[in-house]
Amino acid sequence: MRFDIVTIFPEFFEILDISLLGRARQTGLIELGVYNLRDYTHDRHRTVDDTPYGGGAGMVMKPEPWGEALDEVLSPSADPVVIFPSPAGEVFTQKMARELSAEEHIVFGCGRYEGIDQRVFDHTAERARVRLVSLGDYVLNGGEVAVMAMIEAIGRLVPGVVGNPESLVDESHEDGLLEYPSYTKPASWRGHDVPPILLSGNHGAVDAWRREQQVERTRRVRPDLLAD
Ligand code: ADE
Repeated sequence: MRFDIVTIFPEFFEILDISLLGRARQTGLIELGVYNLRDYTHDRHRTVDDTPYGGGAGMVMKPEPWGEALDEVLSPSADPVVIFPSPAGEVFTQKMARELSAEEHIVFGCGRYEGIDQRVFDHTAERARVRLVSLGDYVLNGGEVAVMAMIEAIGRLVPGVVGNPESLVDESHEDGLLEYPSYTKPASWRGHDVPPILLSGNHGAVDAWRREQQVERTRRVRPDLLAD
């Protein structure tokens, strides 16, 4: 799996050198390229934005640097997906992360300011599968934080990245429910006891209790998931 990121803040992604995904990069399971959008400008100030046609507040990212950056990033790829994080996009879910973890090449384009000139999306859609994707119903200053979240969610589903694949099965959202509460030793801590059923050794009863907990928690915190 290869991720490429186009951004005006390439340093932001240095954090991907560490942790689980850092190891996956060392072993070659995940490849990562980070491109500075300003490297594709041709003026002294390395300008990436301009005022909006039609007026209005804020600045819009210019199409030309995006065009040149994407020419380079997309050129070696047979069938890439290009994701532009945007609060105006479809909402990112575990299902989407799982689908995307089967892709060979995902390119992320991080917008800043009031957004990117619409023609960048339209033109890119002529040569790649383009998706606008939102992390949720709130507004970030730019796409970088959203891309970091998406890379972590997608990358950990790439086979081999998480050492024990069974640990991916019982997680929140994998079966449309939130995960059950977990406990470890000691059995009693500061007046709080582990639910006795978990100490019973009865695997059937434990499974049933966990399922109940999942449904109860989902009903209480995220009734919208049960409706789906
Ligand atoms: N950029 C700004 N806000 C965003 C959001 N909610 N999700 C993804 N990208 C964004």
